[in-house]
Amino acid sequence: MDRLKIGIIFGGSSEEHPISVKSAREVARNLDLEKYEPFWIGITRSGAWKLCDDPDAQWENRRCQPAVVSPDRSVHGLLVLEQEHYKMIRLDVVFPVLYGRLGEDGAVQGLLELSGIPYVGCDVQSSALCMDKSLAYIVARTAGIATPNYWVVAANEKIDPDRLPYPVFVKPARSGSSFGVSKVSCTEELPGAMETARQYDS
Ligand SMILES: Nc1ncnc2c1ncn2[C@@H]1O[C@H](COP(=O)(O)OP(=O)(O)OP(=O)(O)O)[C@@H](O)[C@H]1O
Ligand SMILES: [Mg+2]
Repeated sequence: MDRLKIGIIFGGSSEEHPISVKSAREVARNLDLEKYEPFWIGITRSGAWKLCDDPDAQWENRRCQPAVVSPDRSVHGLLVLEQEHYKMIRLDVVFPVLYGRLGEDGAVQGLLELSGIPYVGCDVQSSALCMDKSLAYIVARTAGIATPNYWVVAANEKIDPDRLPYPVFVKPARSGSSFGVSKVSCTEELPGAMETARQYDS
C-alpha cells in the first residue's frame, strides 16, 4: 500500500519557534515511516518556507528548497521551487506543528482550508479563539467552566495596582509556552511584569 504523504509544518515566526522545532523532532522520532512519507516544511523566523530533509537543529543550514503550501485546490499540496520551475507534490494530509501567532491562531489553518488538504488539529475558528486568552476566558466561562478571575489590560491602559488581589499571574493574551508570564506577589512587582508581558503582546 502507498504511504500517506504527510506535510509537517514547523518553525514559524513567533517567539515559540524553538519549541516548535523541538516538537517536530519528536514527531520525526515517532512517525511510523511504513505508513507515512514525511515532507518537512520549515518556516524560518523571518517567515521563509523551505522543504528540508529533517527538522534537526541545523535544518536551515542543510539542503533546503523554497516551498509553499498552495491555496489552489487543484495542487492539493506543495509547490517546490526547483531550477526556476515549480514542482508539485500532492499531499494527503498536513500536520501543523506550529505555535503562537500565525501558526496557532488560525492563519495557517485558513491557508489549509483554502488548499483543501485535510489537516491535524483545530479549525480556523477554534484556533483564533484559543490563541487569545482574553477571548478563551469569555467562552470558557460562558460555558460554565471554572475560570480564574481576570482583567484584560488594553494597549496604553494603566491598571491600578491596588485593585488586584495578590498573587496574580500577568501574561500576554496572545503568546504561549510561558513566554512573558510572571507571578506577581505585590504591587511593586506589577510594572515589571506588565513590561515583560508587553514584549509579546500589546
Ligand atoms: N491563574 C493561575 N494560577 C496558577 N498558576 C498559573 C495561573 N496562570 C498561569 N499560571 C502558571 O503559569 C504557567 C503559564 O501560564 P499559561 O499556561 O496560562 O500560559 P502559556 O503557557 O504561556 O500559554 P499556553 O498554555 O497557551 O501555551 C502555567 O503553566 C502555570 O504554571
Ligand atoms: Mg501553558
